[in-house]
Amino acid sequence: MRHVSAELYIYILNDTFTLVISLSIYSTCGIESLSDKIQQAGDQPLSRHLRANINFKSPALYIYTSGTTGLPKAAVINHERLWMASFLQTIAGVRSDDIIYVYLPLYHSSAFLMGLCGAIERGITVVLRRKFSASQFWNDCRKYNVTIIQYIGEIMRYLCNTPKRDNDKDHKVRVALGNGIRADTWAEFLQRFGDIHICECYGATEGNVGFVNYIGKIGAIGKEHFLHKMGCPYALIRYDTEKEEPVRDSRGFCIEVAKEETGLLVAKIGERTPFSGYAKNKQQTEKKKLRDVFVTGDLYFNSGDLLKIDSEGFVFFQDRIGDTFRWKGENVATTEVADHLLMVDCVEEANVYGVKVPGHEGRIGMASLKLKENMDFDSKAAYEHVKNSLPSYARPRFIRIQDSLTVTGTFKQMKMNLAEEGFNPAVIRDPLLYLEENKGYIPMTQEIFNSIAEGRIRL
Ligand SMILES: *[C@@H]1O[C@H](CO)[C@@H](O)[C@H](O)[C@H]1NC(C)=O
Repeated sequence: MRHVSAELYIYILNDTFTLVISLSIYSTCGIESLSDKIQQAGDQPLSRHLRANINFKSPALYIYTSGTTGLPKAAVINHERLWMASFLQTIAGVRSDDIIYVYLPLYHSSAFLMGLCGAIERGITVVLRRKFSASQFWNDCRKYNVTIIQYIGEIMRYLCNTPKRDNDKDHKVRVALGNGIRADTWAEFLQRFGDIHICECYGATEGNVGFVNYIGKIGAIGKEHFLHKMGCPYALIRYDTEKEEPVRDSRGFCIEVAKEETGLLVAKIGERTPFSGYAKNKQQTEKKKLRDVFVTGDLYFNSGDLLKIDSEGFVFFQDRIGDTFRWKGENVATTEVADHLLMVDCVEEANVYGVKVPGHEGRIGMASLKLKENMDFDSKAAYEHVKNSLPSYARPRFIRIQDSLTVTGTFKQMKMNLAEEGFNPAVIRDPLLYLEENKGYIPMTQEIFNSIAEGRIRL
């Protein structure tokens, strides 16, 4: 019998408040209920001896990181991390009279660490909603006098996509805290919903480096600061997307990129910037470590994210490794292609990925689209836009129309399954389109597929 159990203890230091969550999942016996045990528990502080062996380095909880790159893994969050994450609200300027709206799943770091634990740290009111609803979002904010909202991934765009209303600016929200907002959405959001201070943060659940853009520079995830860099040595290094590894010089060391150049973010693993890794998964933990980066024997955390720092020191997120594929020797950034597809009138959501083609190196672009309600795919408009805005290697060669796009619990798009499913109409039930060169998007047929598979059509 497999038995998974996780325990979480949050102690507020002056002992006036203690929260203990203990969760046990028996994969064969069902799930034990927690509520009745909480009901039975007294309201007295727990005895100190229960936590006598717990210190800052002890595991506080495990958080499964989303499955966008590889399978989900349990990241170990120790008490120090939990504390640090809960202080992000302070950095964002949250005050003790604020009210925060938490609607993201509590099993991820964003809602749990930044949202709930941060709220406990600030002592503020939490408005909890079971599930995100774009149509109810602002009604909830108005009803509960919400002043702080959280966001992640695509949420802000979902909100911008809702039909405009006269009362769009009628609310008390003053701070939005989160990560993953795109620059164009950011500007649109402010224009539509009013003067809200957007505090964009960057950091991975298991990572040992983070940035906070507390000054609200549109599009940036933060700004370099020498104190930050001293306390947490990090670097952007040159990365080869084809070989999927950092570029090394003749001595075998990594190369730091210049300002305005995109590079892979790596952060030194040390006493004050530890990497706790994944629970019981040595292989995945090792995969995130990079050795001999600048000198023999040094050790860095590989963030898997490509960033850029401009001449003023603002830091910009560019891409996540795995979100880029290569076709005809060129790098294709999936997010950039998706942004262009979103400009086509009929497209509501776009997920871009690379698929393998027999007899070809690399991966060719494919997009899965969700169309706006009551709209058909406008192949002419799509082709015009793609042709005018993207170089030929970056144009999605195949398009798949889906009723809904699969996202993780934190609204990150899933690409791996789609990429594996490919573009064979015999396998895929959704409507498929094929970009015929100099013509446009036409329905994909078995005949076209066979011609490609047998090499009679060269892509
Ligand atoms: C929201 O604020 C208004 C005005 O201050 C107050 O009357 C109302 O009771 C508040 N609503 C909630 C749910 O606290």
